[in-house]
Amino acid sequence: MKFFLDTAELDDIRDLAATGLVDGVTTNPSLVAKSGRDFIEAIAEICDVVDGPVSAEVTATDHATMVAEGRHLAAIAPNVTVKVPLTADGLKACRRLADDGTKVNVTLCFSSAQALLAAKAGASFISPFVGRLDDIGADGMELIADIVDIYSAYPQLETEVLVASVRHVSHVIEAAKLGADVVTVPPQVLRQMFKHPLTDKGLAAFLADWEKTGQRILAEAPSAQALSHDAEPARRRA
Ligand code: E4P
Repeated sequence: MKFFLDTAELDDIRDLAATGLVDGVTTNPSLVAKSGRDFIEAIAEICDVVDGPVSAEVTATDHATMVAEGRHLAAIAPNVTVKVPLTADGLKACRRLADDGTKVNVTLCFSSAQALLAAKAGASFISPFVGRLDDIGADGMELIADIVDIYSAYPQLETEVLVASVRHVSHVIEAAKLGADVVTVPPQVLRQMFKHPLTDKGLAAFLADWEKTGQRILAEAPSAQALSHDAEPARRRA
């Protein structure tokens, strides 16, 4: 399963990308507004930090302007994925941009019928919003199960199921159990995934016992240069 970060905050992206666990980033107009950043500059910087797909959303609502905006966004960096809303115009723009060879993420998906149309329009990713469905008393994960099921009946479809509007770690686990291709998570959800109280407790006990031995694994501390080199993800150094 691929992990994308759902944010436009560069500090969070840099920090978590350094773990080597981040396969891409998704943004939307609300996240860009929250960051206070210039949209084009922020996308360029994110694309510089993360090698995988970085979703940048069009804001026009007619297909011709969506295509023009999409081409402008796609020119920022080779790893930009253009995000379009799941409307008739959005899917028209999706087909056009996909025919250009641009990856398209179709967003604001709330039904399997919509997911079927997006796949037919050549979307690289379909983004069903599980949290927003849960918010209105529906079952977001049921939609993921349906889409995964439908897409798997047509192995020639290349559209990846990108679980969006993730609110907590359980959404990630459920999405993984269902075989979703990608999950896009807010930074705090990815950070929560590292945590378990028994890990903290166990580590504290190991370190306390180790201290009693008076031993050291390294004869001397590594240099600052070696530490900063190893802080960079290996694939960016390659
Ligand atoms: C996905 O690409 C969207 O940016 C995002 O997941 C929306 O999440 P929200 O419902 O928490 O705003």
